[in-house]
Amino acid sequence: MIHIRDYYFEDELEWLDVHASVMVDSYAWWTAIHKKPEYENNLVDLVAICDDKIVGFITIEINSQVLKKLDNYGFVWEFGVHRDYRGNGIGLKLIKKAHKILNEKYQINKTIWYSQDENAKKYYEYIGMKEIDRHWQFSIVPDDKLKKEFKNNGFNCWEIRGSCSIDDFDKVKKKYDVIEDDDPINPKICVGYELVL
Ligand SMILES: CC(C)(COP(=O)(O)OP(=O)(O)OC[C@H]1O[C@@H](n2cnc3c(N)ncnc32)[C@H](O)[C@@H]1OP(=O)(O)O)[C@@H](O)C(=O)NCCC(=O)NCCS
Repeated sequence: MIHIRDYYFEDELEWLDVHASVMVDSYAWWTAIHKKPEYENNLVDLVAICDDKIVGFITIEINSQVLKKLDNYGFVWEFGVHRDYRGNGIGLKLIKKAHKILNEKYQINKTIWYSQDENAKKYYEYIGMKEIDRHWQFSIVPDDKLKKEFKNNGFNCWEIRGSCSIDDFDKVKKKYDVIEDDDPINPKICVGYELVL
């Protein structure tokens, strides 16, 4: 039996455990987290329970400032199902319940999703999401000039993370030393999707 309920404060450590194990077999995130992130606006924050434990999660922020031009939308920060429980409709249940709450409580029918994980992209397309954006995300080693400039201000910089449009990536690669041999931060195409339910 799968049960979807609100996330409670007391869930934090168990939630982090499941989040960490989802991180191990996906490229949805590129840093590990040790605290559940907090957000400025209201949340729809749900967990899926099976066998008396958390096996999946979804966290959606209402009108996140991340996308300044949009309003009346939910921004999906976290979404995952533990590998032992995938393929049982838990992901879809989380999405549907979250959208029901968004509709009833906030009169919102749109969520925005970003992912650089290839399986998640396939999943999002399979369940009918519409692509709205794509860009590269990557890290560079600053060149000597940049290093010097940072150093002059007391900052010993060894890595810079950022993004660029698909068209600009070749140009960026020619100009900067893009890191391509460090698995979690290697360049990936991040795709943005919209789901209206
Ligand atoms: C993406 C994820 C949450 C899906 O969870 P899930 O509970 O296994 O998905 P569901 O069981 O609800 O799948 C629903 C449907 O999608 C299909 N599906 C599942 N994964 C798929 C994939 N990678 N590509 C295409 N279709 C997929 C299922 O077969 C099912 O189809 P059906 O309804 O026709 O039988 C899970 O694979 C996951 O946690 N991945 C790693 C974390 C991640 O990438 N999160 C996204 C953050 S950006």
